[in-house]
Order: sequence, then structure tokens, then C-alpha cells
Amino acid sequence: MAVNKRTALIAGNWKMNLDHLQAIAFVQKLAWSLKDAAHDFDAVEAAIFPPFTDLRSVQTLIAADKLSLTYGGQDVSEHESGAHTGEVSAAFLAKLDCRYVIIGHSERRTQHAEDDALVARKVQAALRHGLVPVICVGESAEDLKVHGPSAIPVAQLQRALDSVPGSADIVVAYEPVWAIGSGQPATADQAESVAVALRNTLQEHGGDEMSSRTRILYGGSVSPSNIAGYMREPNIDGALVGGASLDLAAFASIVRYQKHVGS
Ligand code: 13P
Repeated sequence: MAVNKRTALIAGNWKMNLDHLQAIAFVQKLAWSLKDAAHDFDAVEAAIFPPFTDLRSVQTLIAADKLSLTYGGQDVSEHESGAHTGEVSAAFLAKLDCRYVIIGHSERRTQHAEDDALVARKVQAALRHGLVPVICVGESAEDLKVHGPSAIPVAQLQRALDSVPGSADIVVAYEPVWAIGSGQPATADQAESVAVALRNTLQEHGGDEMSSRTRILYGGSVSPSNIAGYMREPNIDGALVGGASLDLAAFASIVRYQKHVGS
């Protein structure tokens, strides 16, 4: 299975679901279920992205029980501190031991009018505080018709990488907007061809080391039945999972995809 040296990453974006009490119950059950199955966290990292209000509870539970799950925020402010009502700084996320933060999710781009310049500033804010930005890119159905599959995701990534050094630790998530929550996932071939274009962009921006080290995830209607197909592709290193990440059995099964694709 191991077609490259990158550690696979299966990330669950909970979006605006599960309060902090539900989060504690979910994380406990997920950790037990993966532990019972002797899941190898060194081979496949499992990360969750709960709402901000859950993060302190998740941090406490993961630290107290020494769980191998990683976690992060779903968004971050471009600012350090001050008069920005409702915003959460990268410093606060780092204090909560977040490893990651999702930046530029299509729901932020469309529902909150986030443009590429803001995404780039948020990436800088994350990097300043040692967080790994999970940079989301992806085209709408209309973009796909007009520009083809990779032009928009590549342009979004180029702009997000503005001022990012080649040595930076980042994750790229390719999430075609038409595949999110639609039950119409991209085929593994489609996702791989955009992943190749994104990897070339990383190469042009940061050189061979950045391009060979950086993980590229696919997201959009990922399920236990289609994860294996993506993970067989050489340039896809994991998945950003929405709906199925809220279903314990489904998410655990996606994390354990090696069991159903063979090694
Ligand atoms: P779905 O898996 O529900 O399609 O959502 C994907 C997503 O937006 C993850 O960030």
C-alpha cells in the first residue's frame, strides 16, 4: 500500500455539529474503537476538527487519557488579538494544543465571503503560531464547466502559498464544491489528476522537498465504501471527511481503510 513515505491523514471536519458533551462521548468511543482494533496511528493518523467550543474538552480528554488522536480548529483569525468580535486567534488554538487548523474551507469562502488574500493571511497567522494549516481548495460545478478540473484549485493554492516558505509544514485538501455533502464524490481518477496538479504547484513554489513531503487530502462525500479507491492513488495521502466523520462506525472504518484495501 505504501506508495510514498507520507503518513496518511484521515481528518474529520465536524462542521457545526456536536456540542462539548457530545464531543467527549464521541472521542472516547472513537479512541476505544480504534484501540480495540489495534489501529496503527503511526501509519494512519486520525484527526478531528470539532467546533471551537469543544476544543478545551477535547484537549483535556486526549491529554488525560493519552489518546493518539490529533485535532485542530475549523477556522482561525488573521489577527493576533484585539477588537475582532467573534474571532479566535491562532495563539488561542496553539494554547489548546491544536496541531492543525482548517483554512479556506469552501463553506467559509461562500458563506463568509473569504477570498484568497484572506486565506493567505490566515495561513500566515497559523504558521506564526506553529499550527499546520490544512489549506482547502476546490472548484464549483460552474468552475468545472468553464475552467476544467484543476485551474481553480491550483490558482487558489498558489495564492494561499504566497510568502509561505518551502520548509513550512502544511496540508492541502482538495475538496471539489460539487462533491461536498452531495453524495456525488469525485472519482479516484479525477481526484488524483487534481492532486498531481497541486503537487506540481507545491514543487514550483517550494521545491522537491516541499512537494514530496506535503500531504494532499481529498474531501467530498468520502465514505467507508470509496476511501480505498482514493488511498490507492499515489498522490492522495488521506481524506477530509464531513458527514461520515459524525458517524462513529463510518469514521473508524475510514480511518482503518488499510483493512479493506489490503496493504
Ligand atoms: P462531506 O464529506 O459531508 O461531503 O463534506 C466534506 C467536507 O466539506 C469536509 O471538509
